[in-house]
Amino acid sequence: MTVLDPQLARPIGRRTKPVPAPLRVRRTRDYVMCRPTEFAVEYAINPWMDPSRPVDRGRAMRQWEALVETYRSLGHVVEVVEPLPAQPDMVFAANGALVVGDVAYGSRFRYPERAAEAGAVATWLRGRGIDVTPASHPAEGEGDFLVLGHVVLAGTGFRTSLAAHVEAATIIDRPFVTLELVDPAFYHLDVALAVLDDGRGSASADIAYYPGAFSPHSRRTLRELFPDALLVSRDEALTFGLNLVSDGLHVVIPQEAGSMADRLRQRGYVPIAVELDEFRKSGGSVKCCTMEHHA
Ligand code: ARG
Repeated sequence: MTVLDPQLARPIGRRTKPVPAPLRVRRTRDYVMCRPTEFAVEYAINPWMDPSRPVDRGRAMRQWEALVETYRSLGHVVEVVEPLPAQPDMVFAANGALVVGDVAYGSRFRYPERAAEAGAVATWLRGRGIDVTPASHPAEGEGDFLVLGHVVLAGTGFRTSLAAHVEAATIIDRPFVTLELVDPAFYHLDVALAVLDDGRGSASADIAYYPGAFSPHSRRTLRELFPDALLVSRDEALTFGLNLVSDGLHVVIPQEAGSMADRLRQRGYVPIAVELDEFRKSGGSVKCCTMEHHA
């Protein structure tokens, strides 16, 4: 008779040994950020935003500066784009473009409130010798495009259009995988899914995501592509735990996402918690404030 461990539904005594976490390797990154001089919540274009709730801009500024300091102390390069006057969401630099090497797919914001940001970011990138192709369909940069070594994960459903995935794939030389977002609280891909390791170093790509944010079809796609992904609960995702920035070893996460820290450690990462709650009032956190210029 085979005795089954009810927890594992697997014969006792044949348990596989726990696999040691892969050795995580940090790579120096180039980040682009935008000072929150104009930060405010003056309109509502996602369910987190409530213009009647005040924002403490001084506090937002201190939190943002501490994030810049965190990246620099980890040895990363942070460049800063000047904010446009009266563009309160421009601090969410991730949305400004998708930049890989010396080419970029410029943004075209879904809502007119943010439209002016795209041109300002494109001009700034061109000044640095980057060839920017502006999107001709709604596209919100790294809010919905997450770059891995072998593939770009592309979100749609709320902001970035499917047509933009097709267009971006003609500019960025990688296969694009479309993922459909279905829960308005997770209106950008970077609040529903995080790249922990982009797979360009020694380890294979590693991601974390909240399955409920995706359509059944996209969930299946994610399961097939990333069978070992770290799955995160809705509550954790609501703390913006997935809106993180990883350099392959250090994972900068919002302080409220503390419950994810242990599991990140078990996977070999070094979590670093930062206070960024002023930006939650606008529906953003660590990753939203950070555009990576991918090598
Ligand atoms: N208030 C901003 C908006 O709704 C937040 C953007 C957050 N950015 C991000 N990459 N998820 O557009």
